[in-house]
Amino acid sequence: MKAARPVAANSAPLFTPSHPIPPRAQLPRLQSLRVMLDNPIEGWPSAVYEEPIYVPPRRDFPLVYLCDPDAIRAVLVERAAFFPKGPLWMRLLKPLLGEGLLTAEGAHWRWQRHAAAPAFQPRQVLQCSDAIGAAAERAVERWRRQAPGETCDVAAEFVSITFEVILDTMFGGREGYDVKAMSAAFARYVAELGKPTLLDLASAPRWLKRFTAPGANEAIDYLRAKVDDTIARRRREPPRGDLIDALLSARDPETGRAMSDAELRDNLLTFLAGGHETTALALTWAIFLLSQHPESQHRIYREVVSVAGAGAITAAHADELQFTKQVIQEAMRLYPPLPALSRVCRQDCELAGRPTRRGEIVVIPTYALHRHRLYWDNPDCYDPDRFSPGSPLGARRYLYMPFGGGPRVCIGASFAMLEATIILATLVRAANFETIEGPPVRPLLRIALRPEHGLPTRVTLRRSEPKIRAA
Ligand code: HEM
Repeated sequence: MKAARPVAANSAPLFTPSHPIPPRAQLPRLQSLRVMLDNPIEGWPSAVYEEPIYVPPRRDFPLVYLCDPDAIRAVLVERAAFFPKGPLWMRLLKPLLGEGLLTAEGAHWRWQRHAAAPAFQPRQVLQCSDAIGAAAERAVERWRRQAPGETCDVAAEFVSITFEVILDTMFGGREGYDVKAMSAAFARYVAELGKPTLLDLASAPRWLKRFTAPGANEAIDYLRAKVDDTIARRRREPPRGDLIDALLSARDPETGRAMSDAELRDNLLTFLAGGHETTALALTWAIFLLSQHPESQHRIYREVVSVAGAGAITAAHADELQFTKQVIQEAMRLYPPLPALSRVCRQDCELAGRPTRRGEIVVIPTYALHRHRLYWDNPDCYDPDRFSPGSPLGARRYLYMPFGGGPRVCIGASFAMLEATIILATLVRAANFETIEGPPVRPLLRIALRPEHGLPTRVTLRRSEPKIRAA
């Protein structure tokens, strides 16, 4: 089934944003290795985008690429117990995140998920909208202090905004945190330990790679010390009803014990890391697309002004910002912040009509799935109206999955959508975004999918204040 595409009235011609062209066949061995270590999505051959399942003919690694929605559901939902997370993903994340919610398995994962769940109840999430709007408004204020039309790296700007949001909504405030220093530490970790090396592919002991990454080790020490201070402080202070309190008060249903400081630290680092950059990247790619399609920017502007006027954008407004949300959904289709999920098969089975053996790595290449020739019309083309209400997309859950699926689905998905909607609406209402001439933007996989050199963009604040909608 193809996800049919209603054409928007008055829409400007659609366009195809820059993206790597998949090689027709598997690359020669050395080149394949080089690409795998540098930017794996550039090595996925066109068959990954065309077939429900692709098994490379030369099996340098026991990899299977899965794009069949029923088989994906089997891996992530029905047979999830036999498909734990893949070893490479764990190697890249565990040095920082230890055994936190994202990287734990089995009973240890289950109780941590249960422990964090109260902080992501719809009521809790909706209460975060003021803090989200305030963080976006602070960015607008920063832009007011710049010369009109000055270039700004919106990728870095979104990292600051979303970092502030996580601290304000889940960590009880920004006091005692240096957002710049902390996001620089995360960036350093990603650059040094988030990039796979031959040591990872050879499954060398993990300390060996850490030995070669002094900057990342410093970053880990710095981030751990920050989070340890927070834990010590919050143990002394009265509860505030946020994520930290949910974790502090949780009890393991099997043993009745509370989380140790080490477990708390792993989880707080997981939420800090997982909770800011992914959303920042969804927003970055949305601005990348919008800056090439002024018509969509105008449509968002008109929508925001008619729904919220010039006032603060609340959760109730966000619910009504249909087109704004469609743009975010389309940005995450074309550039999913986590562009591949990886699982390891623990029991022989059949997937998409092919036997899958114990020990094989099953890659669900979300980036390719979202551009798959079997399921999408004009797959590489930007078209937010694919997501307009009533589109048949909802009927096939495992074709579009920026937040993953099954029991390990992103716990922060609703929070992220609310956050991205309010931030994008606030910024597009305040400013116009234009691309800067330069080489094509290269999507680079470093744990998440990021523009290789950030996203320098011309930001021009709008002159006239929008008129407030009549009550
Ligand atoms: C646009 C933003 C986001 C995207 C695209 C995203 C994507 C994902 C994906 C694909 C997974 C599943 C990984 C897998 O199955 O291997 C995941 C898991 C997770 N995400 Fe997100 N995420 C986003 C925002 C957030 C936010 C805001 C938070 C927290 C505040 C968060 C916290 C987590 C955690 C803790 C997990 C692990 C859940 C588990 O294994 O039980 N994410 N995310």
